Amino acid sequence: MAEHALTTWESQDLRDRILERLLDAEGDWVSGAELSAITGVSRTAVWKHIQTLEELGFTVEAVRHRGYRLTHVPDIVLEPLLRRRLPAGCALGRRVLYAPVIGSTNATLAHLAQSPALPHGTVLAAGTQTGGRGRRGRSWFSPDTGLWFSVLIRRQIPLSRAAEITLLASVAVRRAILRQTDAPVQIKWPNDLLMDERKVCGILAELRADGEEVQHVVLGIGINANVPHEAFPDELANIATSILAASGRPVHRTQLGADVLRELEPMVEALAMGGAGFAAVIDEWRSACHTLGRDIRVQTPGGLVEGFAIDISPDGRLLVRTHTGERLSIPSGEVLF
Ligand code: BTN
Repeated sequence: MAEHALTTWESQDLRDRILERLLDAEGDWVSGAELSAITGVSRTAVWKHIQTLEELGFTVEAVRHRGYRLTHVPDIVLEPLLRRRLPAGCALGRRVLYAPVIGSTNATLAHLAQSPALPHGTVLAAGTQTGGRGRRGRSWFSPDTGLWFSVLIRRQIPLSRAAEITLLASVAVRRAILRQTDAPVQIKWPNDLLMDERKVCGILAELRADGEEVQHVVLGIGINANVPHEAFPDELANIATSILAASGRPVHRTQLGADVLRELEPMVEALAMGGAGFAAVIDEWRSACHTLGRDIRVQTPGGLVEGFAIDISPDGRLLVRTHTGERLSIPSGEVLF
């Protein structure tokens, strides 16, 4: 399995170099000979990569003695397309792997991350996930109209501060969505994003730690970007939405992904440097929060808690006053609708 995956990733590299050159040409012709020289593979191999691009939704014109030119670029998260939308030097997204269909980007990236050669910031994105993972062992509905990706964070972060990563990610995703729509986006503690009081994005961080130090985090982000409302299965129809359904307009998914990474990058670096982390964006999180100031029910590992959500602490705990007046500080759990 690993070997197969790695072979595939290597050939993605060649395909991406060909794509990079075609994109640079901005619709002009690039000869097969040049593509072959850039990649160091035969012209027949170049042609096979062109076919792969077509399978992914690109339209490439091929004419004898002239070469190839791009006439249509799909909105998918391939490295050359994402990188063009990222600031120079952004470590998150500096390497991007893409699978049209995969079980779970989190599961596969966690597997690939066993190799220390896989750099910090590697992104694995997918068109569709057949076994998308949600929190608490749930599955995550992942049709081909969404944005599903995982980011490898390999930074020295104390285990005690790891929970801040998902909170920071929720702020980054919210900012990214708001770059493309005016429709309100709220945060449900700890890191669900809501539009129209329904879930539009879920975040799942899975980490590997050595003692008190995080070795790496696989940060999975699922955004129901352009999922038509009627596509949600019955059990999700009343609790899930998409940016398309909530705002009435589709979003550019590659741009959305790039904006998430661009927003997240400085936050992760600050956390890794021992800086403010979540505390730096806590006011923004509070002002966007759907949970605070309400009577809520929270499913915690220790049981159901009912009470009034007072505040969040700088390390991400939800502060609740129960109906008997007891004040609780809840490190993890799920607010029930
Ligand atoms: C949740 O239950 O709220 C978390 C959902 C996280 C879904 C994303 S989609 C990309 C990544 N790969 C997965 O298998 N899960 C996460």
